[in-house]
Amino acid sequence: MNTNPQPTTTAATPPSLYERLGSTSGIRALVDDILQAHMENEVIKARFLPYAATPERLAELKGLLATFLEAGSGGPAEYTGKSMVEAHTGLNISPAEYMAAIDDIMAVLTKHGVDESAKKDVLFISYSLMREIVLL
Ligand code: HEM
Repeated sequence: MNTNPQPTTTAATPPSLYERLGSTSGIRALVDDILQAHMENEVIKARFLPYAATPERLAELKGLLATFLEAGSGGPAEYTGKSMVEAHTGLNISPAEYMAAIDDIMAVLTKHGVDESAKKDVLFISYSLMREIVLL
């Protein structure tokens, strides 16, 4: 008699984007490398270098970005930061700067071995946020 209450086959629930990005610890590692890449990217480094000089503000920004990504990809975290429009209003971010940031994000996903379909999902989400971030 089978006394094991577990089903013998596992339902094929596809992993969430959150899981495909490596869950909370994977997303934290992605954010560390994305901000590092921004600080080395000639197009946008001036926006982010001030954070290198203030480690507590850098840590705060990383935390906000990580929870934004986690909440937006189906993870358990709650995002407590500003809306994208609020956060980027007054910064006058150009389309070229936006593309540079997306280039950094995609390169870091590749470096971390994130699969192509998850990369496409991130690219799609990033593209759809452009109007809430650029030229405000
Ligand atoms: C997919 C694209 C982007 C996402 C998801 C994103 C996300 C975020 C988040 C979650 C915050 C924190 C909000 C808060 O302070 O409560 C933030 C702040 C910020 N973002 Fe973005 N961002 C994006 C693109 C960009 C780009 C392209 C730039 C500039 C080149 C940029 C520059 C900044 C700066 C400077 C802050 C800090 C603002 C402050 O200290 O008040 N972001 N962003």
